[in-house]
Amino acid sequence: MASESEHTVLVTGGAGYIGAHTAKALRERGHNPVVFDNLSSGYRDAVRWGDFIHGDIRDTEAVAEALARTQARHIIHFAGLIEVGRSVSRPDLFWAHNVTGLASVLQAAAKAQVQRVVFSSSAAVYGQAAAGFELDLLSEDNPKAPASPYGDTKLAGEKMIAAYASAFGFSAVALRYFNAAGADPSGLIGEAHQPETHLIPLAIAAALGHGKPLTVFGTDFPTPDGTCLRDYVHVDDLAAAHVAAVELPLAPSAFEAFNIGAGHGASVFEVLAAIEAACGRAPPHSLGARRAGDPASLVADPARANRRLGWTPRCSDLDHIIRTAVAWHKAPAYGATSPQPAGILS
Ligand SMILES: NC(=O)c1ccc[n+]([C@@H]2O[C@H](COP(=O)([O-])OP(=O)(O)OC[C@H]3O[C@@H](n4cnc5c(N)ncnc54)[C@H](O)[C@@H]3O)[C@@H](O)[C@H]2O)c1
Repeated sequence: MASESEHTVLVTGGAGYIGAHTAKALRERGHNPVVFDNLSSGYRDAVRWGDFIHGDIRDTEAVAEALARTQARHIIHFAGLIEVGRSVSRPDLFWAHNVTGLASVLQAAAKAQVQRVVFSSSAAVYGQAAAGFELDLLSEDNPKAPASPYGDTKLAGEKMIAAYASAFGFSAVALRYFNAAGADPSGLIGEAHQPETHLIPLAIAAALGHGKPLTVFGTDFPTPDGTCLRDYVHVDDLAAAHVAAVELPLAPSAFEAFNIGAGHGASVFEVLAAIEAACGRAPPHSLGARRAGDPASLVADPARANRRLGWTPRCSDLDHIIRTAVAWHKAPAYGATSPQPAGILS
């Protein structure tokens, strides 16, 4: 039985990349994670640090039953669709999973007297607004102007959670992640998105000879080497931020949002060089034109998370991120050999 300070936490999407790392971090802090996932893009083999309930967040009854069965009073909500490009061609799916699905979870939470909801938000809420800030760090107070349906669903999600928290008396935290990367050094869990759209795993696959050559989009940005700067935060640092968000003392009905990033940027060329150093082979690539809407720099100011959550990135230096990611991609515990996830059919 958990003591006062140990929480049973329903982790929606806990069979996915960030959710699995967070379940491990929760367990290591003495909490009791219970994963709720439909395995559309997650892996059963990634659920190793808590019970597993197979279910879909759009099914409010199933979420309510999971809350009743586990007596969880805390929810970390990761479940959702993540591919920005696909959100342009299939906005219907993104609004259904990321917004209607979230409403379903919040409805069940309100009835079950949940005390805390932690939400996976994204730097995508800033979107185009970041373009006007050149190389400045982005604070939580920067204007929000999502540049994709994906970003719209994250901003809508934050607003929905703030309103539900205010009306139904639970407290809530939105964590706006920048670029999640790396893998847990245990080798048991890592990034296995299918399809993969993120730079680091694509470049590692290319360097290891099991992926396609890359295109570097834009070499004429106003950055030191002309390529885009992005903020890569190690997934174990992200996981620690979720634990801190669960434990943060907050008044009922309060809502707070935090940037979760390393606080420094790495350019595309720096990422490719770090991968070359770790793999002994440069990721094959060609140089292309800028993509419409890509800001030169998207780098977090994590000062508020530091102040309020007591969180600082501890393992987000680029070399550690790349080393752990390369180790995972050389010997993934799932993803390469296990059956492909079901995928989103509806
Ligand atoms: N990966 C990043 O860099 C990044 C950056 C910012 C925000 N985020 C957000 O973090 C969250 C987790 O991202 P991830 O990279 O771990 O993705 P992921 O695809 O690995 O994990 C998502 C999980 O949600 C599950 N899921 C999806 N729809 C569901 C549904 N309707 N019902 C139940 N389960 C469902 C999937 O099976 C999967 O296990 C997402 O909300 C994403 O938008 C990710």
